[in-house]
Order: sequence, then structure tokens, then C-alpha cells
Amino acid sequence: MSKYPIRLTGNEQIDDDHRELWELFQSIKAAPKDQERVLESMRLLSDGWVEHFKREEAVMAQAGYPGLEAHKTLHRQYHERILEFQKNLEQRKEMAQSEWERMLAEAKLEAGLEVVTECSTCIKVAAFLTQWFLQHTNFEDQKYVAYLKSASGA
Ligand SMILES: [Fe+2]
Ligand SMILES: [Fe+2]
Repeated sequence: MSKYPIRLTGNEQIDDDHRELWELFQSIKAAPKDQERVLESMRLLSDGWVEHFKREEAVMAQAGYPGLEAHKTLHRQYHERILEFQKNLEQRKEMAQSEWERMLAEAKLEAGLEVVTECSTCIKVAAFLTQWFLQHTNFEDQKYVAYLKSASGA
């Protein structure tokens, strides 16, 4: 079994959310060619993500975290991406190579991605969303964690 790759925040509820979302990515990865299963996981991911970011933003607001607005924007952009992919998959649209390349350029995630040039849209979507999530939880979320720690004098 591979090591759990998400850094902890120290907030039990937030860490539970991250773990649940991570497990959804694993289920997409486990059956990337089963489009129905991927779609179901995407729906759960979309709902779970909204629940999660509301909770996280409440924690940041309560602490007076100065990066809250920028962080909120990232949360919403990611949600838009999930919805967009969901729509594409529902319409059985194959992602064009140019779209995939644009997405990579936009996210600048090439280095962390496996080579997925000949795979289905489902695999590409899962790879992109997973990498984005890893980057967000391990870097962006850790910024507010550091702020909370310094604010509490820990
Ligand atoms: Fe988070
Ligand atoms: Fe976040």
C-alpha cells in the first residue's frame, strides 16, 4: 500500500475531509475505464469538495487569515473544473489534446504528472484533479495551517 500523501493540518475535521476526498481519487484511479463509476465518484467529489471548502473557509475566517479571499478563489476555480469535467464526461466528450495541453500549461503541473498522452479522458481528468488536490492540500492549505500555528503561539 502506498503512503498517504496528504500533509496533516492538525484539525481533525479538515484532515478527515482530505482523507475522504483522497479516497475518491483512489476509486477513480481504480476503475478509470468505467465511465459510470468515474462519474459517480465525480459527483461525490463535487459535493464533498463544497462541504470541505465551506468548513475550511470558516476556520480561516475565524482565525482572521489574511489569505482567505485568494484561497476562496482557488477553491471555487477547482470546483468549476470539477463541474466542467463532469459535464464533458456526461456528454461523452473526448478531451482534445489541445485542451489537455492547455490545462497542463494553466496548472503548470507537468512535472508531477505521469505521462498520459494515450489514455482516455477519464484518466486525464483523474490525473489532473488528483495533482491539483495534492498541490492545494500540501502547499496552499499548509499556508493557513502555519498562520494558525503562529497566531496561537504554538
Ligand atoms: Fe483543504
Ligand atoms: Fe483549501
